[in-house]
Amino acid sequence: MQQYDEWAPVYDQMMQEPIYKLIRPFSKLFHATVSKLFPEMEKRAFKVLDVAAGTGLLGLELNKLGYSNIDALDISREMMNHARSKNVYKKFMYTAMTDQRTADIKTGEYDALTCSGAVGSAHVRPSAFDEMIRIFKPGGVLCFNISLVEDSKYEEKRKELEDAGKWKLACKEKVPFLEDDKLEETHLYIYVRYQ
Ligand SMILES: C[S@@+](CC[C@H](N)C(=O)[O-])C[C@H]1O[C@@H](n2cnc3c(N)ncnc32)[C@H](O)[C@@H]1O
Repeated sequence: MQQYDEWAPVYDQMMQEPIYKLIRPFSKLFHATVSKLFPEMEKRAFKVLDVAAGTGLLGLELNKLGYSNIDALDISREMMNHARSKNVYKKFMYTAMTDQRTADIKTGEYDALTCSGAVGSAHVRPSAFDEMIRIFKPGGVLCFNISLVEDSKYEEKRKELEDAGKWKLACKEKVPFLEDDKLEETHLYIYVRYQ
């Protein structure tokens, strides 16, 4: 939390294209999947929670695609202060996404959850997926990415939830993530909630 509070004032400057490449493929795949699964649904009514929203880079891109019913959740107040100034989120929740129940969020409250650049060590851990599944509707989607290096740490949990009939993989793609000296890629996942 402290690190992100300190990073917040320069985050957007440092994490933009061509360095941070994730946001556009992430929002594009999310939008394509949502449009396919919910062809009748109006984008502005579709209720999304952006988990670990940070300064709102993803919210901004989703807003450009017509999504305007988006809430934000993040552990860092400073990151969220920057997100607030983008005017794309309705509600802000300052809390960590963990295995604990998020008091402010009802079961099945959201149509979809997004989580970009935050599933990984010391961030959103595998045990948080049960809580993430609780808060979006059956038939709804959860879109997140995991770096190729960390992917195996989440494999057991992904399989456990699949075997338990909690969710089903709708798509998995390898997309560009970060480029400093060399290009780093990430796996982008979209799961559909079953029950
Ligand atoms: C690398 S930033 C990504 C922000 C944004 N999603 C993006 O793509 O630009 C990671 C964010 O995750 C937040 N974060 C890390 N672990 C978290 C957790 N367990 N619950 C909520 N937020 C968390 C941090 O505060 C930070 O804002």
